[in-house]
Amino acid sequence: MSFVVTEACVRCKYTDCVEVCPMHCFLEGPEMLVIDADACIDCAMCVPECPVDAIVHESEATPAQAEVVALNARLARAAGWLPITRKKVLAPGPTSTSSS
Ligand code: SF4
Ligand code: F3S
Repeated sequence: MSFVVTEACVRCKYTDCVEVCPMHCFLEGPEMLVIDADACIDCAMCVPECPVDAIVHESEATPAQAEVVALNARLARAAGWLPITRKKVLAPGPTSTSSS
């Protein structure tokens, strides 16, 4: 059993989670991260780090999330999904002009 990244991560990828993982379980793809279940030790340290609550334990996944549990297992072994251990610095948004 392990924790898994759910669809709430898609297009968010805050990446706060990766910095606290002692086992370096996270892999990054184009739109989300996944957890390598073989590396995860169920410590739960990553769970409170995610601002959108995207990380759940697979034993607590809803029936609707069954697919994403399988997706984590599959994508953690997929070509092109690379380990990520450092939080990404998000590109700044459009600069707003200050009114004076
Ligand atoms: Fe890493 Fe612990 Fe989260 Fe598993 S539960 S991904 S070991 S921080
Ligand atoms: Fe995704 Fe949350 Fe981590 S949005 S990258 S699971 S902090």
